[in-house]
Amino acid sequence: MDYPIWNVAMGGGVLMAWVAITHVIVSHFAIGGGLIIVITETLAVKRSDPELRELARRSSLVLILVSTVFGAISGVGIWVVAGLISPGAISALIHNYVWGWAIEWVFFILEIVAALVYYTTWDKISKGAHLLVGWLYFIGAYFSLVVINGIITFMLTPGGWLESHAFWDGFFNPTYWPSLVLRTGIVVLMAVAFMLWPAFKASPDRRPDLVRYLGWWFLGGVFVSYAGYRWWEAVLPDTVTALFLGEAPTLAGLAATRSFTLWSLTLGLAVTVVALLLAPKLARGLTAILLMVGAFGFFGGYERLREGTRKPFLIHSHLFSNGLLVSQIDEINARGIAAHSGWVAAGDPAPEAFGGRIFVAQCASCHTIDGYQSIREALPTVADMELVAADQPSGMGAVHYREQCSRCHGDIEYQEMAEMMPTLEEIREDPEFIRELNLGMITMTLVELRDMGEEFADFEPGKQFDMRTLDRSYMPPFVGTEEEVEALALYLASLDRGETDVVATGGEK
Ligand code: HEC
Ligand code: HEC
Repeated sequence: MDYPIWNVAMGGGVLMAWVAITHVIVSHFAIGGGLIIVITETLAVKRSDPELRELARRSSLVLILVSTVFGAISGVGIWVVAGLISPGAISALIHNYVWGWAIEWVFFILEIVAALVYYTTWDKISKGAHLLVGWLYFIGAYFSLVVINGIITFMLTPGGWLESHAFWDGFFNPTYWPSLVLRTGIVVLMAVAFMLWPAFKASPDRRPDLVRYLGWWFLGGVFVSYAGYRWWEAVLPDTVTALFLGEAPTLAGLAATRSFTLWSLTLGLAVTVVALLLAPKLARGLTAILLMVGAFGFFGGYERLREGTRKPFLIHSHLFSNGLLVSQIDEINARGIAAHSGWVAAGDPAPEAFGGRIFVAQCASCHTIDGYQSIREALPTVADMELVAADQPSGMGAVHYREQCSRCHGDIEYQEMAEMMPTLEEIREDPEFIRELNLGMITMTLVELRDMGEEFADFEPGKQFDMRTLDRSYMPPFVGTEEEVEALALYLASLDRGETDVVATGGEK
């Protein structure tokens, strides 16, 4: 909010999600691969088993390509995208964890250098020296997880940090250890899902052996991740678990994500037991694909859950996803967003254009205009009003009402609204009046969002907030002066492109 942001049409969050997903998959594979490959090589040397050693060697090619090329590029991509779409948030994370990041990068350099040396020195240096390089790689890779895990978990459960603002309180926060166990399991799952491919290349008589060997790894990974996951759930504050656990979870979507997550792991387990451990001869490309689906589903589901339960915060109870600090709410309401964020004041002073910049500053981190979480969709338009008023064919009015209006009018039944609404004729005769009505609705909604800011003062400071008490717990409050509310409302109302008479044209928009 303090800095101008890069307002991507597809939605900054969506772009970030794509870059981050590729990065986390690759980086977890790079860690798990490191572990399994060096242990495999160690065993191979001990048992003088050339096929097993070949498995390690072949996997190391994938590892090096993936972790150095893809991991490094996507890692840089995360910083570029995150820095441009939420500069305030990135600044906050850097200020709190500057030494954490520095340590992270030291381990990252060790990881990359060791990976390059490891891959290029097979059979060129002594077996013992080669193993040493492999272990150095694993240490570098695993410790980069040990460090970054502190920062990621901190964002969801800042714990004692909220009160003390001390580095270690934030780092070793309540979900630190469970997450580390969970991610340790995940890195193994990811690595096995990839390493099955090189294992398939082994000679036909050794193939089942190697497949079964990887099966034991996957089985171990499943148990470690499951234990870590349950432990993670157990230490989450009630305010967070209530969102997706229990009889009536607040966010049904996240409850579904949770069951998807656990079913994915079950799929991975079933495939492992049947096709890797019991009948390894049956293992084919399809087996590896199913295993990948299971492992990715579990991993992706967990990440989605972690991100979803944190919203609308970037750092829970401290910093919202749009860069607004909880502690700034009162000050910005009094002085105005234009005074607080100079770039919002710069440029065309017409209220509508000014409102557009306020939208970018406060809303664009979650809402696009027409794409993901489209704001145009969320707001009432003349066309929506027509469709509800027309009720053609009979019954469709109620359907449109549920889709277009009930997100804000959950407390009013369609029948009741139908009586209050202008008729179709009235709408057609005077669309300007409807536009005014819509502007009023939008203004009132913003006023409600602004009032919501006051409720944050009632939360106990230094503790994780229970957002369930808020009407719109998924959004940050609006901050700014009354004039700024009006400017934003004018801008939002202008998004209604003004197509009228959609009923006559068959309800198209
Ligand atoms: C942290 C992300 C986030 C930010 C920032 C955000 N919103 Fe939302 N908004 C949401 C979510 C999530 C929904 C619910 C979408 C759904 O139900 O599908 C929503 C819904 C809405 C709705 C529909 C009505 C409702 O209450 O569900 C409106 C209108 C809206 N937002 C306006 C705004 C405006 C204006 C801003 C900026 C002042 C803003 N939002 C900032 C996440 C956000
Ligand atoms: C973004 C939220 C939002 C959406 C979407 C929305 N409204 Fe509203 N609407 C409001 C608010 C806020 C008010 C003012 C309520 C109040 O004064 O208590 C309002 C008021 C109204 C009123 C005036 C009621 C009165 O008390 O006189 C009508 C009629 C109405 N809305 C119809 C609709 C219809 C029909 C739709 C769907 C096409 C719709 N609204 C969609 C927020 C919304």
